[in-house]
Amino acid sequence: MQSGLPSADAIRDEGAACPDHAALEEFRLKWLGKKGEVTALMKTLGPLAPELRAERGAAINAVKDAAVTAFEARRAELDRQAEDAALQAGWVDVTAPARGRPLGKLHPITVLLEEVIDHFTGLGFEVASGPEIEDEFHNFDALNIPKDHPARDVWDTFYTDRREIPRTHTSSVQIRAMQTRKPPIRVISPGRVFRNETIDATHHASFNQVEGLLVDRHVTVAHLKHTLETLVQKLMGRKLETRFRPAFYPFVEPGLDLDVQCVFCGGVGCSICKGSGYIELIPGGLVHPKVLASCGLDPDEWQGFAFGMGFDRMVMMRYGIDDIRRLYDGRLQLVRQF
Ligand code: PHE
Repeated sequence: MQSGLPSADAIRDEGAACPDHAALEEFRLKWLGKKGEVTALMKTLGPLAPELRAERGAAINAVKDAAVTAFEARRAELDRQAEDAALQAGWVDVTAPARGRPLGKLHPITVLLEEVIDHFTGLGFEVASGPEIEDEFHNFDALNIPKDHPARDVWDTFYTDRREIPRTHTSSVQIRAMQTRKPPIRVISPGRVFRNETIDATHHASFNQVEGLLVDRHVTVAHLKHTLETLVQKLMGRKLETRFRPAFYPFVEPGLDLDVQCVFCGGVGCSICKGSGYIELIPGGLVHPKVLASCGLDPDEWQGFAFGMGFDRMVMMRYGIDDIRRLYDGRLQLVRQF
C-alpha cells in the first residue's frame, strides 16, 4: 500500500472469498458502486498538481480494473457452481432429445381420406368432384328418384330459397361423371353432404361421404363385393368379418349394404352396434339401368357398380371415436386406434 491505495492482490483475494452471489454483489457495490471506493478515490484527484494527478489517476484505474476482474472471475465461478448443483439435484440427461413442442396434426378425416384416395388411384380410379350446392336433376331426378316420390323423403333435404339443394349425397357426382366421361369409367368422389338431421352422437347435419363408381362391360356384384372388402381390410389394417344385406336405393339394382364386424366389441354386440355385432358401413349396388340411360349410356352394353361410403363412420371406427360431433367441434381426442 505504498501509494496509500489497496493492492490488486488484496482486491482479488477479497473477491475470491465471496461465498455467494449476494456477497459478491456487496463486493461490487463496495468497490465499483456509485458511492464506492473507486469513485471516492477519483474525487481525491481534483486538488492534485497535474503530473501527480496523471500518475495517481493511472494507479486508481489499476485498482478499478482489479476490482472488475475479481468480480467477473468470481461471478463465473459461482455461476458454474450453481449449474453443477442444479445438475446434481435433478438428473439431467444431456443426451435426451429436446422436449417436443405440441404440433398440429392432420385431422383424422384427412388422414383416412388420403389413404382412400391412395388405395383407389392405385386401382386406376380417378378423383372426381361436384358442387356442394346441387340442382334437383343431379341430386334426385337422374338418380331415378322422381319428384313427389316418397323415396325423396329419406334424404331429409335442405332447400335454399331458389330451390337449390345442398347435396344430400355424393351420388350426384356419379351423374356428373357419366355425363362427362366415356366408359370404362372409374371414379371416386369424396365430399361433404348435408341433411336436415337432429344432431346427436351418430348423426350430423353435415358429414362426409366417399362415392365410388365403376362402369364397364360385364360388371357384377362380385366386383363390388371384392372392391369393398379389400377397401375395408386396407383401411382397418386387418380382415374383419363382413356381410351384405339387401337394401333399397332407387339408383341401384340390386341394392346392398355392406356391414362390418363391430370393432368396438369384436362382434359380440355392444351399445355402439346396438347388439348386432355389425356396423352398417357402405351402401352400394349395381347402377340402375334407368340411371345409365339418364346419362346417355346403353344399359344393354354397359353395367356398373356404385357405392357411397359414410366416411365419418369409417373414421370413427378406425380411431375409436364414439361421437360424430367430436369430428367437427375442434375438441378431437384420439381415444384409441384400431
Ligand atoms: N347415396 C346413398 C345415400 O347417401 C348411398 C349409396 C350410394 C347407395 C351409391 C347405393 C349406391 O344414402
